[in-house]
Amino acid sequence: MRPIRNFYAGPCALPLSVLRRIQDEMLDFRGTGMSVMEISHRAAPVVDLIEETTGGLKRLMGLGDEYEVLLLQGGSSLQFAMMPMNFSGPGEIVAYVDSGLWAKKAMEEARLLGRDVRVVASSAPDHRRIPADWETVSDARYLHLCTNNTIVGTQFSSAMIDALPRGGPVIMADMSSDLLSRRIDHGKFGLIYAHTQKSFGAAGVTIVALRRDLLDRIRDPMAAMLDYRTHVKARSNYNTPPVFAIYVVRLMLDWLEGEIGGIEAMERINRAKAARIYDLIDGSNFYHAPVEAGSRSMMNAVFYLPNPDLEKRFVAEAEQAGIVGLGGHRKWGGCRASLYNAVTLAEVEDLAGFMGEFVAANG
Ligand SMILES: Cc1ncc(COP(=O)(O)O)c(C=O)c1O
Repeated sequence: MRPIRNFYAGPCALPLSVLRRIQDEMLDFRGTGMSVMEISHRAAPVVDLIEETTGGLKRLMGLGDEYEVLLLQGGSSLQFAMMPMNFSGPGEIVAYVDSGLWAKKAMEEARLLGRDVRVVASSAPDHRRIPADWETVSDARYLHLCTNNTIVGTQFSSAMIDALPRGGPVIMADMSSDLLSRRIDHGKFGLIYAHTQKSFGAAGVTIVALRRDLLDRIRDPMAAMLDYRTHVKARSNYNTPPVFAIYVVRLMLDWLEGEIGGIEAMERINRAKAARIYDLIDGSNFYHAPVEAGSRSMMNAVFYLPNPDLEKRFVAEAEQAGIVGLGGHRKWGGCRASLYNAVTLAEVEDLAGFMGEFVAANG
């Protein structure tokens, strides 16, 4: 057990066993006598590392050979721009679901690039739910949504994802804060992107899973680094890749498959963690969860206390008790406990214990 229980929204907790393995392998990566950061990205140990990582991601997502998995840079924010640049032209219609602040950022980027952005569903301004009423825009080049809204604490449930239509515009999704946290049908999506610093790695690399037939829709000319085809052709090794960040993802995949037992086992643990916190909130007259029950995120539990002064005290006293990262987003306020993959059930129990004690002292 670590002295700190980490509930930051990202970057955030990594498993202790992964951190120890990084420490153990730091001076000698796979018998090379060098750290992974010191080896040419064209040398076999790093080329193998990249292939193992993309292969492992594909396996865990249950994607077939019709998909490419890429390891890119620029964070999820660059995907907000690459997606419209590759798959639409100026003035063309692109469809977006407005479910939170990151979903909005993605659409702002498409607007900046001159795309005709249509909001097909929205939960603005309070973002307390995943929007239920959707307009159909059949002539859109794609439909974009964000499966887990990190700031406001909403998430598309697996049933909502199952209900997404097939046969309309290709669906593209930001899964930055819930990829590999539960079993879903990834095959519903033409493109999925996710940075790795939430549930399966360190910051520095962004995963893109892309259905190969979509590559034919990309328009010329395109700056090489911004063109998905460049990275497919170069097998995610076009320019110097973020080798260390890729290495951490590789270790996280081992942890997920070996120690945890795969995605289904991970989902069971994640569901138990989220239930523990939401049940505690719902059972109290002190904490309040603003998000409607069917839309609540398993990854980011957002909650309020009776007033902002108490929230400040709650966050500060938690920190003194070694429980960190509970402050809400600076634009959203309140409190937030992020329960990503590496956060253990025992750590969530500690948080629940602290929340109970805080009510007893202040309720
Ligand atoms: C859902 C979501 N999308 C996009 C981003 C932006 O990611 P990045 O900082 O990698 O650009 C974040 C950041 O936390 C996020 O939570």
